[in-house]
Amino acid sequence: MDEFERHGIAVVSGRDACARALRSAGLTSDPGGGSPSVLLRDGDDHTRVRAVLREIIAGLEPFPAALQAAIEATVAGLGMSFDLVRDFARPVAGAVTSAVLGVPLDDVFLDHLEATTANLDVFGGADRAGQASAFRLAVQLSRTPAGPGGLTALRKAHAAGRLDEDELVINAVVLAHAVYENSLNFLACAGLELATSGPRTVRELVAAVCPARYVLRFGPDGPVAISLADGLPFGLGRHACPGSGVALAEAEIALTALAKHLGGGCEVRDVRWKTHAVFHGLDSAQVVVSGKAG
Ligand code: HEM
Repeated sequence: MDEFERHGIAVVSGRDACARALRSAGLTSDPGGGSPSVLLRDGDDHTRVRAVLREIIAGLEPFPAALQAAIEATVAGLGMSFDLVRDFARPVAGAVTSAVLGVPLDDVFLDHLEATTANLDVFGGADRAGQASAFRLAVQLSRTPAGPGGLTALRKAHAAGRLDEDELVINAVVLAHAVYENSLNFLACAGLELATSGPRTVRELVAAVCPARYVLRFGPDGPVAISLADGLPFGLGRHACPGSGVALAEAEIALTALAKHLGGGCEVRDVRWKTHAVFHGLDSAQVVVSGKAG
């Protein structure tokens, strides 16, 4: 029995059943309570907020050359011994998140962003530290001067009457979290696969890793957890990931650079996993590169 079933939440698995559930008109993403988050609503309000976010994400399509160069430089500078999460996945995911929002993000911001994962606690959201982190980020972003990019675009959408005040404040954090958390977990897990099992395509890796393991929906009989592990890593239907193109481009660049860096082979030690029920990722993994002069 998995964690969902222990909490009385029905689980849908198997690709066809999951695809049907994700497209079902009888299941909603809205748990009630009127959240302004794009993830937790359906209908016209969802379509309206999602359209604004989609326009922002399109700003990174095609993937900007300067961002590609920054990622490649980060990976090239990894050295002979490094942590896959702290030194590889985190700076890459942080740079992409910063580029999406159009604001610089420091380590304190990224720490709080990682802490908000707990705030997405699907079993009741009692994690006060996670909620405090999300709140802090919302306040911080609302006060941050922004250049061209997502935060400015959100503010313009608000000024134009396309988003209300709550939608502006919350979806800045939701967007940052969507970019960062899934990229972080995917890059670290894919990096581990690369280091231990050899080359695979990014599409194969994202299906194998499946960094967001479940999505929650609500039906007449209560909540349902739909598994994405059977070949649906970006979901499907109304809420399907609008950033999948950016995620794949980012991973292609970072993992190609990592494969080059690991060229002569490597050893991986001290692999530690996160334990979140939805977000599948590494806590840390130490890589020691062999076959290069020290
Ligand atoms: C490997 C990396 C990623 C994975 C596995 C992933 C996965 C997902 C999944 C499964 C959903 C659907 C949630 C649901 O149905 O309730 C989603 C939603 C979303 N993702 Fe991604 N994502 C990734 C990266 C990104 C990136 C890089 C961006 C932005 C550039 C992004 C932006 C979003 C947004 C805004 C949503 C909300 C869409 C909505 O509710 O309509 N994601 N993502």
